[in-house]
Amino acid sequence: MVFPVSVGPSSNAGEWGELVEREFPEHAVPGPTRYRDLLAWPEEEKGELPRSFDVIGDIVLVRLPASLVARQDEIGAALLEFVPGARIVGADHGVHGAERLRSVERIAGSGGWRTRHRENGVELEVDVERAYFSPRLAREHAIFAEDVRPGDRVYDLCCGVGPFSVTTARRGRAKAITAVDANPEAIALLRETLVRHGFEDRVASRAACLEEFVPTATPVERVVLNLPREGIKYLPSVARAVAPGGRLYYYEVAPRAELESRGVSLVNGLASEGAFSVVTHRSVHPYSPDADLAVFVLERTR
Ligand SMILES: C[S@@+](CC[C@H](N)C(=O)[O-])C[C@H]1O[C@@H](n2cnc3c(N)ncnc32)[C@H](O)[C@@H]1O
Repeated sequence: MVFPVSVGPSSNAGEWGELVEREFPEHAVPGPTRYRDLLAWPEEEKGELPRSFDVIGDIVLVRLPASLVARQDEIGAALLEFVPGARIVGADHGVHGAERLRSVERIAGSGGWRTRHRENGVELEVDVERAYFSPRLAREHAIFAEDVRPGDRVYDLCCGVGPFSVTTARRGRAKAITAVDANPEAIALLRETLVRHGFEDRVASRAACLEEFVPTATPVERVVLNLPREGIKYLPSVARAVAPGGRLYYYEVAPRAELESRGVSLVNGLASEGAFSVVTHRSVHPYSPDADLAVFVLERTR
């Protein structure tokens, strides 16, 4: 059965089978609207429960305050029941090291940390312990892909499992995409995704450090650098990999109140690499009480 969701049925829809119109009765879905409603705790004990959690494929990750660790099995069971299709729930102990690998601890469900995550019409191979991935960046991946013009060449630096590259490949405008990450496990997962989508010819993937790749890279029209804590040390060399008229999408954790001035200081700091202007800056999501993960889109004017 096929439902038209954005436009009406096309004139040749009948070739697929029978075209019918039906009224559906309204069907109220019973059940809780929040996972906390599944916990039979007194309301005053629910104050510290996290309001948000991440869903990556059939994996649910939640960050728990120390005060709730003793009750993590109950919280895991509630999330497992609450999230449709969930298979395993993990306590997320954060990302560590240069490869930004996530420490996770199973608190409910079964199986491993390998999954397939769907976003922006692509399905990414993900292993939450062995390569970085965040479902909170889905909109960023789509915005970047939309900004690529027909014939542009793209570098996806610090690509992880390749969501920027795969989304851009699906959009189909780029002439060439090169995805680079120091973590060979991330590149192996990306290659599996590319094969499954038939995008092997659209994305070249390399397990390499930026230090190795960038100095000899031919300048291209679109570059993304998503290494929010340490990316700044690579920024001058990465800026040289942006062709005149091209754009650099640079992600950084920055004080929320200073995003605009931060954009200006980034451009001033790149003056010896070329003339850059800030096309836009935007908060992606809160990172700490005073800081956001932000993206700065810098254009090389000459
Ligand atoms: C925050 S993740 C970004 C992943 C991806 N761009 C995304 O949006 O999901 C940073 C990535 O940078 C990689 N990385 C860290 N230092 C690197 C370096 N010097 N050269 C290449 N990759 C590096 C890590 O392995 C990790 O996959």
